[in-house]
Amino acid sequence: MSAFAKTENKTFSRALVVGANRGLGLAFVERLLEHGIAEQVFAGCRNPANAHALEELRQAHGDRLHILPLSVTCEDSLSEAAEELETKTKSLDLLITCVGVLHDEDGLKPERRLRDVNAANLHKSFAVNAFGPLLVARYFSRFLPRRGHCVVANLSARVGSIGDNRLGGWYAYRASKAAQNMFTRNLSIELRRSARDVVCIALHPGTCDTDLSKPFQRGVPAEKLFSPERAVRQLLDIIVDLESTDNGRFIAWDGRNVPW
Ligand SMILES: NC(=O)c1ccc[n+]([C@@H]2O[C@H](COP(=O)([O-])OP(=O)(O)OC[C@H]3O[C@@H](n4cnc5c(N)ncnc54)[C@H](OP(=O)(O)O)[C@@H]3O)[C@@H](O)[C@H]2O)c1
Repeated sequence: MSAFAKTENKTFSRALVVGANRGLGLAFVERLLEHGIAEQVFAGCRNPANAHALEELRQAHGDRLHILPLSVTCEDSLSEAAEELETKTKSLDLLITCVGVLHDEDGLKPERRLRDVNAANLHKSFAVNAFGPLLVARYFSRFLPRRGHCVVANLSARVGSIGDNRLGGWYAYRASKAAQNMFTRNLSIELRRSARDVVCIALHPGTCDTDLSKPFQRGVPAEKLFSPERAVRQLLDIIVDLESTDNGRFIAWDGRNVPW
């Protein structure tokens, strides 16, 4: 029996992690490989030539890791990555999308008030945070098996919860995550028509010590700021135990539901 033989839902045969260059995506790839949670991992990232940490993992794990160039804001690249994937495998039983943007060097930053809102930043946030995971599903859902347990997990954020919004602000990030959540919920319904046993969920990882949250970590108590390794361990503990009835949930790092 292979070291990766499935015991209930505990391991996966082939996983695709999108947004794998750094942060939580990179930590997912690392843990999936190093803990034998996936037999083979495909890592989607924008610029493989600069993906040094991924390249190190590839050297350590050989054929178990394959790096796919793609950008979620370029449909052609998604289509080409899916074609490349097809030359390697016909099926994926784990698809995790970790892309996200909250701030960047070109002036995107979370709005404190209405007058900080501008169309360019709304477009950028929606393109990555909302449309990104949907387009990933559009191009890669055909790899999900018609029968048999498989998981689609989209990294969301509690601030995308409409019911939980008491502070306001962060218009673009909040609304793009709320839209992402609607897309994920829609997917959880439609994907079942072609992949009968899929479990499709949105995940809130908690506040994690990555580039995305760096400028906003002041005031976060140390015990509530998770290292990427800890965050991913907590999320994978949830992912490996998912059951059919979890389809369509929005789940936080502690296993509790987040209100939509
Ligand atoms: N960190 C937190 O505290 C926190 C809290 C709640 C939710 N989340 C969510 O968790 C997910 C992962 O966040 P993180 O903390 O790991 O962020 P991060 O360290 O800033 O990483 C963001 C990732 O998204 C990728 N990305 C951005 N635009 C892309 C595009 N057009 N195509 C492909 N990849 C793209 C980046 O690729 P490059 O390296 O090429 O730029 C990078 O791999 C996000 O969805 C985020 O919203 C994070």
